[in-house]
Amino acid sequence: MRSSTGHHLAFLLPLLLPLTSASRVMIPSTSFSSQSAFDTDWAYNYPWGTDHNGAARMAKSQVQIANNVLTLTAKKVTGEKAATHGGKQIPIHYLSGTVAAKEHFNVSRGGGYDFAGEFRATTTRGTWPAFWLTGVKDWPPEIDMAEWKGSGKISFNTFNTSSQVRATDVAYPNPGEFHKIRCEVRDVNGRDVAVKFYMDEKFIETQYGRGFVGQPMYLIMDLQMEASSGSPGPNEVSA
Ligand SMILES: *[C@@H]1O[C@H](CO)[C@@H](O)[C@H](O)[C@H]1NC(C)=O
Ligand SMILES: *[C@@H]1O[C@H](CO)[C@@H](O)[C@H](O)[C@H]1NC(C)=O
Repeated sequence: MRSSTGHHLAFLLPLLLPLTSASRVMIPSTSFSSQSAFDTDWAYNYPWGTDHNGAARMAKSQVQIANNVLTLTAKKVTGEKAATHGGKQIPIHYLSGTVAAKEHFNVSRGGGYDFAGEFRATTTRGTWPAFWLTGVKDWPPEIDMAEWKGSGKISFNTFNTSSQVRATDVAYPNPGEFHKIRCEVRDVNGRDVAVKFYMDEKFIETQYGRGFVGQPMYLIMDLQMEASSGSPGPNEVSA
């Protein structure tokens, strides 16, 4: 069996858009054109380490760049020690890939960012790729600009607290093709942000994050496995 469980990213263009001055590109569309371009803007693994909330442990070996595409590949492994998350032990069944932007994203008063990329994401059960923002100092903020939880759908979420979440799942057409995800994050009142989600330039909806202004965020692209995406995941994976 060959399962397409790679998470591919063709380009990514977060723009800083302070309303008072010209916008600037923070991560150029060429950031996957060479190892040195990658190293300028991206680091391997989660900013806090190799583990998070699923069955994959991240490793640099599972991240490839070629032809302006980043590919994350998960493979089944045995004998890894469990991860610890939220006081619980999570068995590790995979090695996979994650990258995080070196810059942090802090929405200022009157400011905001556009985040955009082209993704070809797996929707197989047990695979959990995501393109997301999460707080550097506190949690929330979290904005899931796109995540795929093995259901065939794509999810867009903003967290005010762990229980106060706006979560919208929509149909995800043609998973074998690239889809453009764009997310506009803007200050609305000096405290809260508005988040507008688009897929293939079609507007999905606006969500709001309470108190996200002035809260620096990490930008992460990962291929987690199992957990929220069900289990078991595929045995053999190729990207
Ligand atoms: C976020 O940006 C604002 C100004 O836009 C600044 O006052 C604040 O210190 C920044 N916060 C952090 C933690 O960088
Ligand atoms: C989150 O907080 C914002 C600002 O208070 C609010 O507009 C939004 O409705 C809240 N989200 C949820 C899911 O309640």
